[in-house]
Amino acid sequence: MDLHGDELTDAVVTSFDGSLEPRTKEVMSALVRHLHAFAREVDLTEDEYFLAIDFLTRTGQISDDKRQEFVLLADTLGLSMLTVGLGSPDAEGATESTVFGPFFVEGSPEVPNGADLANGAPGQPCLVSGRVLTTKGEPIAGATVETWQADEDGFYDVQKDGLTGPQNRGHLKTDADGNYSFWAVKPVAYPIPVDGPVGEMLRAGGRGWMRPAHIHFMVTAPGYHRLITHVFEAADPYLQEDAVFGVKDSLVTEFTEHPDGHYSVSYDLVLAEETP
Ligand code: BEZ
Ligand code: FE
Repeated sequence: MDLHGDELTDAVVTSFDGSLEPRTKEVMSALVRHLHAFAREVDLTEDEYFLAIDFLTRTGQISDDKRQEFVLLADTLGLSMLTVGLGSPDAEGATESTVFGPFFVEGSPEVPNGADLANGAPGQPCLVSGRVLTTKGEPIAGATVETWQADEDGFYDVQKDGLTGPQNRGHLKTDADGNYSFWAVKPVAYPIPVDGPVGEMLRAGGRGWMRPAHIHFMVTAPGYHRLITHVFEAADPYLQEDAVFGVKDSLVTEFTEHPDGHYSVSYDLVLAEETP
């Protein structure tokens, strides 16, 4: 057998004909076709091929339970946002989704409405509030609101050594009118981790590595689609150049500065109903 060109691609595609699941065949044959088309389009050299293998090897080697360089790679290549868009419920009026990011931690503390989540983190105090609503504007009582965010130095608690408890992280239940509120610090723009292969790629590509200031939310309630999103600060200079392409206009809102130096922001989170 002497396969090359389209015959080689066809042989690899048909090698998946015996896949145990139809979806495996669909995904793998599309992957092979696009991968081969990519190599042809850029006329890939062997040196570039080995460079890519080394890049992916190091991406795996730097990853552990705290650092997920492959997620960062998917984020910075826009694959995460593309997948978020493909998976979003098509519900008029529901809050839009954005990237999950690598800094969510399972098992954050449950706190009452109005609690202070900052727990000593550096930054200006910021009162965050709003309602969890249906697309018809009705309140959702008892929804779970998870939140996490970076401090004034641009770090999440999981990036810091020596902390005795979580900072700017927790979850709470909405009250009978769908209200949620908590104190944290005013978020600031921060750099994504660039001390690994993804950083090399961003530098080589002449790209930036900042994320505009945001607060993360994950909201769940029985009968509704889970919402994973951020609220971005309208005054942030990096809104147009988010390193992971996560900004959507509908998620950008004003933070108000008060005379005593604290900030506040109010944002309603609207969930899409699950269709049976
Ligand atoms: C974040 O917002 O936490 C994040 C998202 C994607 C990559 C890095 C950080
Ligand atoms: Fe973040």
